[in-house]
Amino acid sequence: MTVKKRPIRNRELSPETLAAQALGWVDPDTRAVVPPIHPSVTTERNPDLTYSRGTGYMRGTPESCLQAEALLAKLEGGENALMYASGMAAIAAVLRALEPGDHLVALRDLFRGSLKWIQLNLIPWGVDVDFVANDDIDDLARAMRPGKTKMVYLETPSNPTFEIVDLAAAIKVAHDAGALVVVDNTVPTPVLTRPIELGADLVVHSATKYLNGHSDVLAGAVVFGAETKSLHERILELRHLEGAILGPFEAWLLLRGMRTLYLRVQQAAASAQQIAEYLDQHPKVTRSLYPGLRGHPGHEIAKRQMNGGFGGLLSFRLADQESAITLQGRLELIKRATSLGGVESLIEPTKDNEWRFVPVPLDLVRLSVGIEDPDDLIADLAQALEAL
Ligand SMILES: Cc1ncc(COP(=O)(O)O)c(C=O)c1O
Repeated sequence: MTVKKRPIRNRELSPETLAAQALGWVDPDTRAVVPPIHPSVTTERNPDLTYSRGTGYMRGTPESCLQAEALLAKLEGGENALMYASGMAAIAAVLRALEPGDHLVALRDLFRGSLKWIQLNLIPWGVDVDFVANDDIDDLARAMRPGKTKMVYLETPSNPTFEIVDLAAAIKVAHDAGALVVVDNTVPTPVLTRPIELGADLVVHSATKYLNGHSDVLAGAVVFGAETKSLHERILELRHLEGAILGPFEAWLLLRGMRTLYLRVQQAAASAQQIAEYLDQHPKVTRSLYPGLRGHPGHEIAKRQMNGGFGGLLSFRLADQESAITLQGRLELIKRATSLGGVESLIEPTKDNEWRFVPVPLDLVRLSVGIEDPDDLIADLAQALEAL
């Protein structure tokens, strides 16, 4: 990965360093290496109506988000980024850039909230939508309507079935037809995949997950690639008008979380690989779904487009739904909770298949691997599996 000039005796700093130091920011007044929290929703104007510090009203320019936005844009290789009050607020902000009559092509197997939002809001609003198979570029190519398809919406690895999209190939198909490409990069994070480097126009995130990493902030982000100036202006204006921004306390916590992003994601991915391999050979597990396993249908593509690991999330299947519910009930260390990307491991069996085109098997359990000792996590899974 190349990071643009930031010379220390001509050395280009790695993203790990840029993240750890939050781009090297130091408070100009106090020389503090951690930013202050400014809860004020407004800043005072000079008599001539200019601002010497601050930027006015918080809904328009949330000053406290600027550092987190700059850091995320840098890590994703984007031009700029906008923070939102949740991942869904960020995703909705991007999808609402479509007009009635436009055509959207989206993957069939997406995060359930995105699928539901498209079905509940975008289609009734008059946007024409086609859903295509995640792992079939020909299906994507067939759905494209040159001149009419305005956006292609992708996610890889998909959550919770971990299908892999060949991003470079999908982006080429979309661009050949004149469509903009949006990638939800929540699961791999820029540590493992950089869609903008592969040609994507926009990246969206649930920053609630790995970016913050501590299960204590709800946040979202949109990152803009090089050719998206007018879209950035439009989406920024809408954020200003609607106010789905991240508050100052949450922005502060998010920036703190992002400083350890690389260590956390690398550890979670290494542990997930070990756990997926353990589950793969366990007699009571019928299938272990993780792109890091050689037998995974998307393994070769994932190896090419993911850098340094296959992510901290995995799923596995058991004999039936009852076994899945029993297993999670017997765990002693891993927490039974919704969400992913935190430092603590969380487990969740499939609850329902509402809004999905590709039903998730009811015997499936999703595990978000944290940064605990993987041997402790395996011991917990082993004792729960033994009891089945
Ligand atoms: C891949 C993905 N995208 C988006 C979201 C939505 O994010 P939020 O819960 O921050 O609104 C989630 C939440 O689980 C997710 O897993």
